[in-house]
Amino acid sequence: MQLAMLFHTQTMAFKIFVLLLTAARAIAFPYSSDIHLLKPHSGSAGHKHSGLNCLSWRLGVETNNLRDWTQVPASCKDYVGHYMLGKQYRLDCNLVADSAYEYAKGLNLTGDGKDVWVFDIDETTLSNLPYYARHSVAFGAIPYNATAFNAWVMEAEAPAVPGSLKLYKRLVKMGFKIVFLTGSGVAYTDVRTKNLRAVGYTTWEKLILKGAGDASRGVVYKSNKRKELVVDAGYRIRGNMGDQWSDLLGTYTGDRTFKLPDPMYYIG
Ligand SMILES: *[C@@H]1O[C@H](CO)[C@@H](O)[C@H](O)[C@H]1NC(C)=O
Ligand SMILES: *[C@@H]1O[C@H](CO)[C@@H](O)[C@H](O)[C@H]1NC(C)=O
Ligand SMILES: [Mg+2]
Repeated sequence: MQLAMLFHTQTMAFKIFVLLLTAARAIAFPYSSDIHLLKPHSGSAGHKHSGLNCLSWRLGVETNNLRDWTQVPASCKDYVGHYMLGKQYRLDCNLVADSAYEYAKGLNLTGDGKDVWVFDIDETTLSNLPYYARHSVAFGAIPYNATAFNAWVMEAEAPAVPGSLKLYKRLVKMGFKIVFLTGSGVAYTDVRTKNLRAVGYTTWEKLILKGAGDASRGVVYKSNKRKELVVDAGYRIRGNMGDQWSDLLGTYTGDRTFKLPDPMYYIG
């Protein structure tokens, strides 16, 4: 008991001492603690050997500071795998969906059936994680293989992206018309339809796939299709959600865009 009290008193005295020291230092040089926080923390990232911090890499990807990358850096394969299969990816997706819902709730729909919400498909409404988690695909750390990926798409077994299905159902209930706009080719119309329906996306205004002869880049293709929606068909794009910046940049992007995480691949 006495020992405990003595220890307590000593701890208090030490705390006061530290406080005074910090205050004195702050008066002498008010920015020193900020500078300290910006010093590199040696060894804390656990990627000393590769020289690449994978969390920083992912942030660079999500902010579109890193562009036109063709595959996940080999040293970040495990990091991306843990992120995608663990809780964080789902939490990140849920936050995007929840913020989209909060935004949508604040809109006044006209009731003329022209208020649309544009959803991308891959890694936005449907998840290809079962494919990317395969050993041979390594979460995007090997070069993209169109043959293998297309065979997976043909299976029509992709699950819904966490959060997006819930948002979709809420938007439908609120009266939004849904447009799915995907870089998938028209040859995949039936399998994509089947896959969407199977996981709960049961209704939509339009399902737009890329024409067989259309060789335009993602951002150009999607801008052109959105222009057709707005200019030719008179829709209002109230919200636009995708996992790639090329879903959300360009023209006729919509009143608000929502970016889902995707550290597995980049489409320009
Ligand atoms: C929607 O309409 C209501 C009632 O007319 C109004 O109070 C509200 O400000 C409107 N919201 C927006 C975002 O226009
Ligand atoms: C791509 O995938 C196909 C089908 O799985 C396979 O036969 C082929 O060897 C792969 N190509 C490369 C370069 O790995
Ligand atoms: Mg996508």
